Amino acid sequence: MESFVIEGGARLSGAVGVHGAKNAALPIMAATLLTGGTYVLENVPDLLDIRTMIDILAALGVQVRRQGERLFIDTSTLSSNVVPELLMSQMRSSIFLMGPLVARTGEAVLGYPGGCAIGSRPIDLHIEGLQKLNVNIHEYGGTILCRAPKLKGSTIVLDYPSVGATENIMMAAVLAEGTTRIVNAAREPEIQDLERFLNAMGARVRGAGTHAIVIEGVGALHPVERYRIIPDRIVAGTYLAAAAMTEGDVWIENVIPEHLEAVIDVVHKTGARIDVYADRLHVKGVRPYRAVHKLSTSPHPGFPTDMQPQLVAYLTMAEGTSVVMETVFDGRFRHIPELVKMGANIVVDYHTVVIRGPARLVGARVKATDLRAGASLVMAGLAAEGMTIVDGAHHVDRGYSDLETALCGLGARIERVPMKTLLAQ
Ligand code: EPZ
Repeated sequence: MESFVIEGGARLSGAVGVHGAKNAALPIMAATLLTGGTYVLENVPDLLDIRTMIDILAALGVQVRRQGERLFIDTSTLSSNVVPELLMSQMRSSIFLMGPLVARTGEAVLGYPGGCAIGSRPIDLHIEGLQKLNVNIHEYGGTILCRAPKLKGSTIVLDYPSVGATENIMMAAVLAEGTTRIVNAAREPEIQDLERFLNAMGARVRGAGTHAIVIEGVGALHPVERYRIIPDRIVAGTYLAAAAMTEGDVWIENVIPEHLEAVIDVVHKTGARIDVYADRLHVKGVRPYRAVHKLSTSPHPGFPTDMQPQLVAYLTMAEGTSVVMETVFDGRFRHIPELVKMGANIVVDYHTVVIRGPARLVGARVKATDLRAGASLVMAGLAAEGMTIVDGAHHVDRGYSDLETALCGLGARIERVPMKTLLAQ
């Protein structure tokens, strides 16, 4: 177990590059199972969840080799369609294997996925979607058995624009007989990246980024020689909020600005200066910041739930009362008590938080409970007076590659320390 130890007060300055998108790389890695052959994926960040997906592919007989930010994958040696239970339970995105495995082999055996403790994480939309494609699914004793002698296209109306369910259905439908329409599909940029990758494999997908995605099933697909994953919009948004929070002056590079328009808009409205260029952002934090009187998280292109903890930390600096409603997950406020320990004035009322500022944050020992909550606590530590210890660095490592090195490059005083060292002090 490791912790981050942060000496607050440094204003971030300089330039930082954004790594590839975890939530684009994970479904694309699963999609390589759809046909045998060799693939090179570029801009794949080295994160805990990516390592777990590599372990799952290897357990299925797939060969995976990392060379820097590149993954070399050979799925011609696929020899199993049974996902090991222990690996399945380590992250949410293991559920993405269901669609590709059934499409490639006609069968898949999985457990229930794990994932961050941010609320109930049902998979009913995944199950119902694949059943509509003629997959027989039996759930018993924690195991999900999927069988599909032949996948058949269908129209699937999602009750909720679920990112994962949209992706799972897309990956199963590309090899189905006939046409599939996904209505009320998720519109996230990672869905568009998956569409681009599937079409590079010879699939016929269109409409990603809109509420309706149409997939014409094809008889066969082929591997993709080289594919570059999009940059991570949430990592970019986290650096944006951290720079503003510390009244820094930071260039954030390798960004697709339109992927985080809602985040840029909100932080800009508080008074931070943000200049937007083709592939980078320049942020200058100049307090005082204005409160955000009412903001709700919502599916893309709305304000992303994955930026809610970081925004809440940032709004503790704003003058006045901010109200943030979390509409996507029902348990994504576990960072709040930790921020309150540091002196934030935040009250939780069901799915809404009320933040009164500006708060004088003071360093404390706090605990990360999931990757974005952990990122918000690191941000608070950067802005607090004195020393902050954030236990549970492994949660942050699921979504941020080497965060402390990136922040040190911007002048932050942060280091990673084994928990036992801290206990010995
Ligand atoms: C993806 O999770 C992301 N993870 C999450 O990022 C992100 O927070 C989420 O989308 C929303 O944008 C990956 O892409 C690996 P959903 P996913 O299905 O697919 C309900 C991060 O921080 N739902 O869109 O699991 C669900 O309970 C992570 O990087 C059902 O009811 O999200 C939730 O309330 C955290 N039934 C809502 O939909 C289902 O079958 C959104 O979930 C599926 C989902």
